[in-house]
Amino acid sequence: MAPQAPHTPQAPSPPPSRSAPAVRWWRRPWIAPLALATLAFLAFAVPPYLGLDPARSRFPIREDVPWHYAMLVTHIFGGTVLMPLVVLQVWPWMRRRHPAVHRWSGRVYVFGGVVFVGVPALLIAPLSHTGPSSQVGSTLWAVAWLAFTVTGYVMARRRRFADHRRWMLRSFVLLYGIALNRLVVMVLLLVMMPQARSVYGGDVGALAADLAPASLFLSWLLPLVLLEWWFQRGAPRARPGARTTPVRL
Ligand code: HEM
Repeated sequence: MAPQAPHTPQAPSPPPSRSAPAVRWWRRPWIAPLALATLAFLAFAVPPYLGLDPARSRFPIREDVPWHYAMLVTHIFGGTVLMPLVVLQVWPWMRRRHPAVHRWSGRVYVFGGVVFVGVPALLIAPLSHTGPSSQVGSTLWAVAWLAFTVTGYVMARRRRFADHRRWMLRSFVLLYGIALNRLVVMVLLLVMMPQARSVYGGDVGALAADLAPASLFLSWLLPLVLLEWWFQRGAPRARPGARTTPVRL
């Protein structure tokens, strides 16, 4: 099916229909792995921050910026709530059977996400200890996430649900960039390991620091490019007659 341009005006979605046959859960094999990967990432990333002890932070905290740690933990706790919400939002069964849950968790995602994840990310991005390239990359990442999320919400308000779906998928992909970053760092380190000895004199930490900007850009730009490619080649749309979530925002 030919993809629709993101800003093509659309007729409002058809009224919800309960007659469409439900797709069985095993036809959606990605929901359980996504939920497990989310839990695994959170179990790994969040514990150092639970005690609110700046000394346990994985990132150096700037002493000359009194709000740095507070903003970082706000961002992390907000992200801890937002990631499971994404699983809920993309779960077709939940959208079909409990559209009210989809609407309410969507509102929490947008408003809670902007206040507790996106804006704090924007504030801490210029403080990144991995240098100016990472600072620029993180700032662009935060701006893009905020823009995609707000646009997705506006599209739902205008009842342009196909556009809403695309913008929210872009937002979700960017949110998961933080988890993907862990994998990208490891892959880049493995690929570049020969240089650890020849160029960095065995200092793997220095190599990792130099790779940080590259892994950061790759972690959110690569999935975004893949998502756009998926859209262009005709991502599956809602089945005809399937229940579309009646979003009353
Ligand atoms: C909207 C997408 C996100 C953006 C733009 C973003 C941006 C940032 C930035 C700029 C930093 C500071 C990095 C530095 O100082 O070098 C950071 C750190 C961090 N973020 Fe996010 N983030 C996002 C989503 C999330 C989510 C969903 C979580 C889930 C809990 C999360 C957890 C963390 C953690 C744990 C750190 C501290 C560094 C670490 O321990 O790895 N972020 N993030």
